[in-house]
Amino acid sequence: MIFRQLFDATSGTYTYLLASRRGGEAMIIDPVLEKVDRYLQLIRELDLKLVKAVDTHLHADHITGLGALRDRTHCITVMGEQSGVDVVSMRLADGDRLGIEGLSLDVMYTPGHTDDSYSFAMADRVFTGDTLLIRGTGRTDFQNGDARAQYQSIFGRLLKLPDETLVFPAHDYKGDTVSTIGEEKACNPRLQVKSVDDYVALMNGLNLSNPKMMDVAVPANMRQGLAQAEIARRGWAVMADQVPALLGNHDVVLIDLRERSERERHGEIPGALHAPYPDLQENIQPGGMIYELATATGKRLVFYCAFGERSAMAVQAAQDAGLATACHIQGGMDAWKRAQQTSPAR
Ligand SMILES: [Fe+2]
Repeated sequence: MIFRQLFDATSGTYTYLLASRRGGEAMIIDPVLEKVDRYLQLIRELDLKLVKAVDTHLHADHITGLGALRDRTHCITVMGEQSGVDVVSMRLADGDRLGIEGLSLDVMYTPGHTDDSYSFAMADRVFTGDTLLIRGTGRTDFQNGDARAQYQSIFGRLLKLPDETLVFPAHDYKGDTVSTIGEEKACNPRLQVKSVDDYVALMNGLNLSNPKMMDVAVPANMRQGLAQAEIARRGWAVMADQVPALLGNHDVVLIDLRERSERERHGEIPGALHAPYPDLQENIQPGGMIYELATATGKRLVFYCAFGERSAMAVQAAQDAGLATACHIQGGMDAWKRAQQTSPAR
């Protein structure tokens, strides 16, 4: 496995780059905007293809690199389903798997620091975001933080992992880089409490000042900009309420870009072809499934995904590859489901 722990000294943020092999797919966890050039250089040097950029939660102390990485690599941007961040193109829930080629992480919903905090576990390590830090825990006094929920996330979930599990947090301000679950159980001063009420009292008594960047970072992280705005401007968007008219139309092929787990959890539009987004470049080149289908039949390609972000990037890529009939469902499956609920015909 390729594993790199990268550090942003300004915000004390750790960013993790993971891949199963040189030349393969990569994932990045908690990227910082100012460091995006550095990440992309490293990704090139290691001959990797960035497929997913993940934030463990909405950060208040730095601006996320998710938007810039999406714009420059067309990667999938990932957060938890509680997230209201516009840039997110794939949302995870507790019990999901977060995968790239050769690697699969367990998705754990661990709220408390924020209500959208997630941890990601592999066989020997766990990425804890700001839920569990080295000899500390993430503050719970803003962004819908909840000390009681955090106690449950830590004691009920993270500390149940094997003691030897490596702990890689999103921040450290003392210079520590890694710990273990066993070490934190024994030595983390915040975890030496006798009850959840003791923990809540401890956290509520911290009286911390707000992060310097908070007023800038939170709004910036909420609004990174949508890929689909430009696609709509170019006239390549279909509104969700127009989709029923497309179903059963032999001149149209609907293409579902989501992963299998998303289709199982959220359903699919009947009759759609499944072509996951990470395989898109291959599929839209001559010889690829989508390219051959479009050129052989002249059918109109209507991409869709969960929220319209992956499909917007797919439309641009397909148009760039000469597939002039490509468009997408704006707002994706989410908008289609909403349109169904409000449709007077149903
Ligand atoms: Fe945080």
